[in-house]
Amino acid sequence: MRLEKIHLLNFKNYEELNLDFSPQINCILGENGSGKTNLLDAIYYLSFTKSAFSSVEQQNVRHGEPLLMVKGIFEKQERKYTIQCNWQRGQKKQVQNSQVPYDKMSEHIGRFPVVMISPDDTDLIRGASELRRRFFDSLMSQIDADYLEDLIRYNHVLRQRNALLKQFADRNTYDSDLLDSYSDQLLDLGHRLYEKRLAFLDKFIPYFDQHYRNLSGEKESVAIQYTSHFSKSEYRSVFFKAYGKDLILQRTTLGIHRDDYVFKIDEHPTKRFGSQGQQKSFVIALKLAQFDVLRAEKQLKPILLLDDIFDKLDDFRIGKLTEMVVQHSFGQLFVSDARPERTRSIFSLIEGEKKYFQVHQGVITETLLESKKDQPYQYQNGQQNGQRKADNVTKK
Ligand SMILES: Nc1ncnc2c1ncn2[C@@H]1O[C@H](COP(=O)(O)OP(=O)(O)OP(=O)(O)O)[C@@H](O)[C@H]1O
Ligand SMILES: [Mg+2]
Repeated sequence: MRLEKIHLLNFKNYEELNLDFSPQINCILGENGSGKTNLLDAIYYLSFTKSAFSSVEQQNVRHGEPLLMVKGIFEKQERKYTIQCNWQRGQKKQVQNSQVPYDKMSEHIGRFPVVMISPDDTDLIRGASELRRRFFDSLMSQIDADYLEDLIRYNHVLRQRNALLKQFADRNTYDSDLLDSYSDQLLDLGHRLYEKRLAFLDKFIPYFDQHYRNLSGEKESVAIQYTSHFSKSEYRSVFFKAYGKDLILQRTTLGIHRDDYVFKIDEHPTKRFGSQGQQKSFVIALKLAQFDVLRAEKQLKPILLLDDIFDKLDDFRIGKLTEMVVQHSFGQLFVSDARPERTRSIFSLIEGEKKYFQVHQGVITETLLESKKDQPYQYQNGQQNGQRKADNVTKK
């Protein structure tokens, strides 16, 4: 699977942008704040129908503009798909697949898998449990539509139950039958989701282990420990016993929305004891395992977005990742870097069709290779070396 073209209108700092991508390696180069991450985020948007950074569209639309559009043409199993996402202030977002609108955004999730590795990812280790749940939920939702449906329903019932608890407190009332009915729904959905989370880890961990060992040079052992209120056999009675606490705090204190995944290196929590390098390796191994699981489940290679990743890694780890690129472990690859010479030297030795894009203040120019060592790049019109403006009508 690959993304052939992208067309943006008023997406973050891009006013209008049209680009054709290489089916293999795409390097997005440019100074800090130029728009590299924004372009990768637009690709992520096409897969998830939302930004990786903010689901508030007011933050994604170009300042002062009333609407945004993110459109891409994918090639998958020799068929082309045009995915178009439109959002307009005051209106519901619309997503179309080859001009047919989806009734529910969730129908699109998982069809064009994308994995993004970005500098903020160590938040996954250092941050709140919500980020870890979101990571696994997002991955599982892409491979299991029923899981996503159940999760959406669980969150809906949870919101209703919490609103009810608040209403009881505000009005000084109590209706145990009504509360029980929400509790039963939460427990049934929650138990199904718990079992799936548990089973999924069995699939995920071997991939993760292997990547961590490879990246760290087999130095440490790692573990992911799933913790949930549902792991107790008497979880139902424990849940009902927590009613008093729920009423006082006006929220549901037990359930799978409080699950966590504890990451460990040599039996110690990575969050507290992992060095920066260990945390980085941990997170990259998590993302590469995500890539592997998606590839195995979907029988295709997800698009891989590496945002500023070289800046965060030592030479050994860069070498390991480069090895994977050389061995064609990945499919289509997008790499962003604020230091062009580094990316050029890493990729100059790698065979394959490469494109280099120079970003400057929301304007993208496609550049040809400069280094003599690089594989010569042939354009269809026969142009070689030098510079060419991309099919890009972006204006500042
Ligand atoms: N909604 C928006 N409208 C206009 N500009 C925006 C919007 N959101 C973000 N930007 C601008 O986009 C720029 C940041 O782009 P981006 O994060 O893609 O930079 P980058 O090239 O990845 O930089 P770095 O190398 O520092 O990671 C900032 O200048 C920011 O002001
Ligand atoms: Mg960036």
